[in-house]
Amino acid sequence: TGIKIGYFVGSLASNSINRTLSKALIRLAPADLEFTEISIGDLPLYSSDFDSDFPPAGQKLKQAIEASDGLLFITPEYNRSIPGALKNAIDWGSRPWGTNSFARKPTGIIGASPGGIGTAVMQSSMRSVLSFLDAPQLNSPEAYITFSSEVFGEGGEVNNEATETFLRHYMDEYCAFVQRVLAVTAPGHI
Ligand code: FNR
Repeated sequence: TGIKIGYFVGSLASNSINRTLSKALIRLAPADLEFTEISIGDLPLYSSDFDSDFPPAGQKLKQAIEASDGLLFITPEYNRSIPGALKNAIDWGSRPWGTNSFARKPTGIIGASPGGIGTAVMQSSMRSVLSFLDAPQLNSPEAYITFSSEVFGEGGEVNNEATETFLRHYMDEYCAFVQRVLAVTAPGHI
C-alpha cells in the first residue's frame, strides 16, 4: 500500500492559485504517495469551550490528520503570516490539550503568491507553529513559488520545464523525508 498524505489548501477562494499548485504537486509526486485533502472550510472558530464536548467537525479533522502518514501544507501568505482559516484548523487539530494530532507527523510547507516573496514569511511562521506542535518538517529544499497563469494550467499542468523539474524534485525529496521519519516512528509500516 502507498504512503497516505493528507494535504491542506490554506485558501478558501474558489479560484485559489494554491489549489492550482496543489494539483500540480499531486501530478508530479512519486506514485508511492496517495493524496487526500483535509478540508478546513467548515470548521467553526476554535474555542477551548469546545474541549469538553468536541464537535464532529473537529473530531473529523483530528481523525484525518491521525490517519495520514504525512501532511503537506499548500498555502498562501496573508499579511505576512498564516491565513486565519488554516491557523484555525491547526488550532483545532492541536486540541484538546494532550491530544495534539500533529505530534511526530512529517510535514512539508509550500505556497504560491503572485509576488516575488512567494510566501516565504508565512512559511517562517508555519515552521515555528509546527515546531511547537512537535511535527518534523522537510527543511530542504524550500519552495517559494511565484505564481504565473502562463506557467500553471488550471488542471495542474506545468508549462515551464525548469518549474516542473523543481516541483518534481521537491516532491521526491518530500517523499524521501516522510519515509525517513516513518522508518523511525512506524517501523515496518511501509
Ligand atoms: C494577500 N496577498 C498576499 N501576498 C503575499 O505575497 N504576501 C502577503 O502578505 C499577502 N497578504 C494578503 C492578505 C490577504 C487578506 C489577501 C486576500 C491576499 C495576496 C495573495 O498572495 C493572493 O491573493 C493569492 O492569490 C492568494 O492565494 P490563493 O487564495 O489564490 O491561493
